[in-house]
Amino acid sequence: MSKEIVVSGIRSTGYLHLGNYFGAIRNYVKMQEEYNCYFFIADYHSLTTHPNPKDLKGNVYHMVAEHVASGLDPEKVALYAQSDIPEIPELYLILNMLAYKGELEKVPTFKDKVRQQPNNVNSGLLTYPVLMAADIMIHRAVKVPVGKDQEQHLEMARNFAQRFNNRYGELFPEPIPFNFGSDLLKIPSLDGTGKMSKSENLNATIYFTDDDDLIRKKVMKAKTDSGPTEPNSEMPDYIQNLFLFMHLVSNPATVETYRNEFNNCTIRYGDMKKQLAEDMVAFVRPIREMAEAMRKDEAQIQKILRAGAEKARESASKTISLARKMIGINYY
Ligand code: TRP
Repeated sequence: MSKEIVVSGIRSTGYLHLGNYFGAIRNYVKMQEEYNCYFFIADYHSLTTHPNPKDLKGNVYHMVAEHVASGLDPEKVALYAQSDIPEIPELYLILNMLAYKGELEKVPTFKDKVRQQPNNVNSGLLTYPVLMAADIMIHRAVKVPVGKDQEQHLEMARNFAQRFNNRYGELFPEPIPFNFGSDLLKIPSLDGTGKMSKSENLNATIYFTDDDDLIRKKVMKAKTDSGPTEPNSEMPDYIQNLFLFMHLVSNPATVETYRNEFNNCTIRYGDMKKQLAEDMVAFVRPIREMAEAMRKDEAQIQKILRAGAEKARESASKTISLARKMIGINYY
């Protein structure tokens, strides 16, 4: 039986952090065993903000290296750059004829951008959801692992798929958000304010590029207090966060020990953070070292990207030739 198709896009700017890993990548790694996965670096999408041309290659290589170091296996998934698949912009053009200015202007992420960058409201920003729909529909995928902030974009993709099908005949399934049965884990930032993210507090976010000492420093700075005074007290949220991190990177017996110490009021948060810091270091180090080694090996990254593009184009070219025929672009 053929495997179901999963597509997801990876933003090409910024460095990966633990929030990305436990929120998304860990799920991708599980999916690669059971699904036919297409994961790509969304470099065309990044052009909406006119990045410096000198940075593109480095950004793309960085993302490939960190994803492979995190466990994505380029033998099992198609890992590619969006810009290597010319069928994507072709489908994007076709879908633009089925997308209405009014509905695009209403998209919350577009409205945010208009507020953030009033001097650069280009039509690439407006049609961002159309390009994203093309990314997905080019492989006729149904399942799309995305966070909550992308659900509206998926709804638009479903609309475009329906409109195409109604007008030209059944070609595209309607894609739905998919996270492998599990709710997406929200990783808090180390200072307990909001979630771990690129844009917020750098010091409260652990990146895969952080060296051992920087990780230790960040963990030791996490907020604590003087400890519980009553047995089995309720845990403040910033302490719950420390336990969540420990649960993710430490072994279960360690978590259990500190949990008991919390419950009988003997816990020393300084010791707990030292332990957490060491376990975090041990978790991040192999990923960081592998990503660093890979980034230096351009030939290896190129090989991964080429193989990924080849797999992706095989599927994309089938879709686009069917779409062209159905539209009536069928002259020879
Ligand atoms: N818009 C997504 C984000 O900001 C990235 C993305 C681009 C994507 N194309 C996609 C995600 C296709 C899933 C499928 O995170």
